[in-house]
Amino acid sequence: MSQWTSHGLPERMDGLSFVDVGCWEGDICAEAVARGAASVLGIDYCTSPDLERTLSTSSFDFIQLDLLSEKALQLPEFDIVHSAGVLYHVENPLSFLYRLRKLCRFGGSIYVETTVAIGPTQEPVMLFHPRDSFDANPSNWWSPNEPCLIAMIEEVGLLDIEVTSRPECPSETKDFTMSRICVRGRVANTPTSISQKMLPRRPSYMPIAAGKGSRRPGGQP
Ligand SMILES: C[S@@+](CC[C@H](N)C(=O)[O-])C[C@H]1O[C@@H](n2cnc3c(N)ncnc32)[C@H](O)[C@@H]1O
Repeated sequence: MSQWTSHGLPERMDGLSFVDVGCWEGDICAEAVARGAASVLGIDYCTSPDLERTLSTSSFDFIQLDLLSEKALQLPEFDIVHSAGVLYHVENPLSFLYRLRKLCRFGGSIYVETTVAIGPTQEPVMLFHPRDSFDANPSNWWSPNEPCLIAMIEEVGLLDIEVTSRPECPSETKDFTMSRICVRGRVANTPTSISQKMLPRRPSYMPIAAGKGSRRPGGQP
């Protein structure tokens, strides 16, 4: 089954704009063009001869960019935002999800495919992979379990969250094992869905004695 189908992306893309974040060789972008998308953009901070080849035979645009860079804030909004195999490569997955959300217009959909940790708990947890402990790749940092991924996606303000590709192994195991998952969420039609954790902070969230060492035993700063 192609990545497109297994991630649950729409059969037809006519009239829709599409962005693939971490597009690598650009295959998903080329598929979006072939499925009739009105505009297609690939973003990646790397390029490769494979990407050059795909770009020469398809009609999508490519921007070499780190999604977490300040420049990325200038990108337009898209109907469908897709990112596969990137969440575990970023140091701050929640910031990455906020950036995906920023790329998506109200009413649009975001698809996030990632590694998922299957383990002994249904509490939201994120497994940290120090050094090159996961797949001998030092650029692999994090694997959320499914409840954690869904909670983070809710936190950035997505609705109607749905798992479009679920790991085949059991949902709970004695030790942590790794699998893959793809989740889709919709950006609400109003800005009110933005996380309550975003600034401005309200006075009620701050201790009266803030800055006077109130959090330390004995009041010592
Ligand atoms: C494991 S590859 C996945 C490629 C492809 N999406 C797939 O599913 O086969 C991760 C890709 O994400 C890119 N990437 C990682 N972090 C990124 C970031 N912050 N901004 C843009 N691209 C990023 C990498 O350069 C790499 O091409």
